[in-house]
Amino acid sequence: MLLIISLILFLKPLEIFGRSHQLANNKKSDTSWGSTHEDLVTDLPGQPSVNFTHYAGHVTVNENNGRALFYWFYECSIAPESKPLVLWLNGGPGCSSVGYGATQEIGPFLVDSDGFGLKLNPYSWNKEANLLFLESPIGVGFSYSNTSGDYHIIGDDFTANDTYTFLHKWLLKFPSYKKRPFYIAGESYAGKYVPELAEVIVDKNKDPSLFIDLRGILLGNPETCDAEDWKGLVDYAWSHAVISDETHKTISDSCDFHSDDTWSNQTCTQAVDEVLKQYKEIDIYSLYTSVCIRDTASSEQQTTQVLFDTKSKMMPRIMGGYDPCLDDYTSSYYNRPDVQKALHVSDGQHLKNWSICNMTVFGNWSDTKESVLPIYHKLIDAGLKIWVYSGDTDGRVPVLSTRYSLGALGLPITRKWRPWYHQKQVGGWVEEYKGLTFATFRGAGHAVPTFKPSESLAFFTSFLNGQSLPFQRI
Ligand SMILES: *[C@@H]1O[C@H](CO)[C@@H](O)[C@H](O)[C@H]1NC(C)=O
Ligand SMILES: *[C@@H]1O[C@H](CO)[C@@H](O)[C@H](O)[C@H]1NC(C)=O
Ligand SMILES: *[C@@H]1O[C@H](CO)[C@@H](O)[C@H](O)[C@H]1NC(C)=O
Ligand SMILES: *[C@@H]1O[C@H](CO)[C@@H](O)[C@H](O)[C@H]1NC(C)=O
Ligand SMILES: *[C@@H]1O[C@H](CO)[C@@H](O)[C@H](O)[C@H]1NC(C)=O
Ligand SMILES: *[C@@H]1O[C@H](CO)[C@@H](O)[C@H](O)[C@H]1NC(C)=O
Ligand SMILES: *[C@@H]1O[C@H](CO)[C@@H](O)[C@H](O)[C@H]1NC(C)=O
Repeated sequence: MLLIISLILFLKPLEIFGRSHQLANNKKSDTSWGSTHEDLVTDLPGQPSVNFTHYAGHVTVNENNGRALFYWFYECSIAPESKPLVLWLNGGPGCSSVGYGATQEIGPFLVDSDGFGLKLNPYSWNKEANLLFLESPIGVGFSYSNTSGDYHIIGDDFTANDTYTFLHKWLLKFPSYKKRPFYIAGESYAGKYVPELAEVIVDKNKDPSLFIDLRGILLGNPETCDAEDWKGLVDYAWSHAVISDETHKTISDSCDFHSDDTWSNQTCTQAVDEVLKQYKEIDIYSLYTSVCIRDTASSEQQTTQVLFDTKSKMMPRIMGGYDPCLDDYTSSYYNRPDVQKALHVSDGQHLKNWSICNMTVFGNWSDTKESVLPIYHKLIDAGLKIWVYSGDTDGRVPVLSTRYSLGALGLPITRKWRPWYHQKQVGGWVEEYKGLTFATFRGAGHAVPTFKPSESLAFFTSFLNGQSLPFQRI
């Protein structure tokens, strides 16, 4: 019952916006492709009519092995030729940026609760930028390799390399974006991907022929430094009444998260298991919303099992949204033959098996950087703009983890902690450092734009424009 009520509240603002915009006079940002581009999406089932173009398809990143990554690109709805290009990545590792970012968070078309249609998102980030979503690495969503051995070596490094190759190949398909200001954004495990990719770009930019005009990165509830992230997870669970004082004390006494063999101490491992056991009862990604109660015990079991693998320092990405069943609707939608055909991933007969998170990719992840903080320093020195935000009701990569991580960076504060406002209310708090801005979203879970769409769009706009967040109640 509660779930049904929340659903209606969620859909209301979208319906108000329901008036559609016709594709008026086919105004394109580049006359060389436009309506004849092979990847142009023309008949996406259930799509509301809009006045911007969008493209989807595979880009081959390695011809010998037959590796191809799937992208979906939405041009900006207002003056695309004068707007930057933004790449969005979700995490996992192993989760889809199309399933989460594009259709549950910041894209123009959000998946409808019946799994058969799409809703226009009035707060889509393509109002401010040309938005590129990538399913990365191979094994995620529609991205694949024809060489099975490739799947045994995927990790952070492999992913950054393939994504970098993808960018150059993609720019060949869309040449008018080659000199465009470029940003990379992402959340969760993309807290690792985004700085790692930015570092590759900064390094390769030394060769002028490879230059990509990277201006900055944006990170939401990002995994950053494993030791600080774990400490934050535990402290947050305690300070939000999820675990007892005793469990917290045991962890404080027996767990050394900075050590190489944290999990060899049984006392520590058992106490951390207790934390995860409590979180299994609620939605760790959104402490104060309902969990998805399914008719059948389906994929949920599978994902929580991985969560309990304390030997892995990596973290799965399970959706925690206003409607936590949305993952199921998304899977129904992307496994439809007509949808796969419209997105140029199959002929509508031989279907691809699409899943929102690939647990095999997650389970076989072969290398991960324990901390990307050294990369932050490098990117700051290279003059990139770095903004980090945190939904403060997420228990997975909680605001405390991010504060511990940024604390370890030791950057000088340039504007001290203060509230920021959106429509006369406090959106959260913000602190500016030399080279980095950190902001919280009050009352938002892990996937912030799902919970605070209007605030998120305003925040994204400030980021792109390089403006401080509003500090007055106006
Ligand atoms: C992978 O193999 C299929 C089937 O042979 C082929 O159609 C496809 O083009 C290959 N992919 C790449 C990226 O080479
Ligand atoms: C598309 O629609 C938006 C929203 O109504 C409007 O602001 C914008 O000017 C339109 N863009 C074009 C290229 O017509
Ligand atoms: C998941 O990834 C594995 C490789 O790790 C791949 O073989 C499989 O096809 C992928 N599953 C789906 C549903 O995409
Ligand atoms: C990534 O690319 C760099 C060179 O640019 C190379 O040294 C490294 O081995 C590559 N890593 C993987 C896993 O392919
Ligand atoms: C775990 O750590 C605690 C505190 O450092 C220590 O007293 C205990 O002996 C350790 N247990 C094991 C099994 O190493
Ligand atoms: C798709 O992949 C999932 C997970 O690997 C598997 O459980 C399911 O049976 C597959 N479905 C089809 C139609 O192959
Ligand atoms: C690793 O991949 C293999 C298939 O390539 C799969 O059978 C196995 O379950 C995976 N391991 C984990 C931990 O997911």
